[in-house]
Amino acid sequence: MKILLLGSGGREHALAWKIAQSPKVEKLFVAPGNAGTAEVAENVPIPAKNFDFIADFVLEQNVDMVVVGPEDPLVGGIADFFRSRADLSRIPVIGPSAAGAQLEGSKDFAKQFMQRHGIPTAAYATFNGTQVEEGCRFLASLQPPYVLKADGLCAGKGVLILPSLEEAQTELRSMLGGKFGNASARVVIEEFLSGIECSMFVLTDGEHYAILPEAKDYKRIGEGDTGLNTGGMGSVSPVPFATAEWKKKVEDEIIRPTVEGLSKEGIDYKGFIFFGLINCDGQPKVIEYNCRMGDPETETVMLRLKSDIVDLFEGVAKGDLDRRTVEFDERAAVCVMLVSGGYPEAYGKGYPISGLEKVTDSVVFHAGTALKDGNVVTSGGRVIAVSSYGRDKQEALAKSMSGAAAIDFEKKYFRRDIGQDL
Ligand code: AMP
Ligand code: GLY
Repeated sequence: MKILLLGSGGREHALAWKIAQSPKVEKLFVAPGNAGTAEVAENVPIPAKNFDFIADFVLEQNVDMVVVGPEDPLVGGIADFFRSRADLSRIPVIGPSAAGAQLEGSKDFAKQFMQRHGIPTAAYATFNGTQVEEGCRFLASLQPPYVLKADGLCAGKGVLILPSLEEAQTELRSMLGGKFGNASARVVIEEFLSGIECSMFVLTDGEHYAILPEAKDYKRIGEGDTGLNTGGMGSVSPVPFATAEWKKKVEDEIIRPTVEGLSKEGIDYKGFIFFGLINCDGQPKVIEYNCRMGDPETETVMLRLKSDIVDLFEGVAKGDLDRRTVEFDERAAVCVMLVSGGYPEAYGKGYPISGLEKVTDSVVFHAGTALKDGNVVTSGGRVIAVSSYGRDKQEALAKSMSGAAAIDFEKKYFRRDIGQDL
């Protein structure tokens, strides 16, 4: 079959790497892709948010399935767009409808959904621009630190954790006053939860679900989890504290109620669900949902998924996911992200990348790269994900660290402590 994958980051290179291994795939396109996806697929220069161009390409090339990497096209309704057009409706889209993508697209929707279905999460209240003073009073009733979340999509920047009441109230005013534009027209104020985080992932056909390997990501820029939040500086799978017993609890109390809740509410959901979890004294709680895979979690999860992912996608499309098998690789996998100096604030682009060919013991996924005159150059803040297998985490880390040292570009930076806290 012919598959079109939408997106251009490390997650998409990892998905493309895995999809390309399937004997069912005759041709894989990535739109728009990066220098890495060009090694395993054909890049097509269409932005993932231009649905009309995507439709034309799919029809011209007889594409049989569309897999959506990032959240934007999903929240924007790409699955609905395909289903609503007579000439496209037979082509399955792996990714939820806009209604389902609200699990990520609106934090307030996600919180209400969890409340309706008794899914454990932090206590919260939501405020809009006419309720600034109420919001400030609500903050005063909580203990520090204070968690403020813009309701809408903010490319990972919409969550603020503030140590003092004064800062929290100032930020609340600024968010409701338009700090993140329409995305912060409503703000969710949440109880602060402390514990260690872990992400779990499922694929669902709307009725059945397949649980994928779990992973932990490292969000802060600095070693020892310090400094600004980033898209993710590395990931590890498996996660030692996520025992079989703990994961069973997640399945019973969170995963199954989520999939059943979506189905009961008549929400069309055929795709990935990302559960951002926190372990509060043994009790898993949901920090956030995403309607897509995580980045850089995908760069370890794909290494640990033994089964043919295209077979699972077919199960999603046909609604018989319960009849497909999901096997995990027993080895550990880790990913270390190389970023451009300055990230997550201002950073340069276009730096030539060298040493990629020296890395033979790891799988090198490209995140922000592009081809310029036949050379691979940086084109984003997160540049390269060095993923490795090992008999255990330490062995995998040693390989990723040596790969990270071998690849070079101006102002390269990476965290050397990925996985060391586990
Ligand atoms: P999100 O964008 O929702 O994933 O939030 C970003 C990060 O903020 C999470 O990964 C957590 O580390 C942190 N966070 C979000 N909500 C809470 C909470 N209620 N308590 C503690 N930390 C939180
Ligand atoms: N790594 C977190 C995310 O993809 O949102």
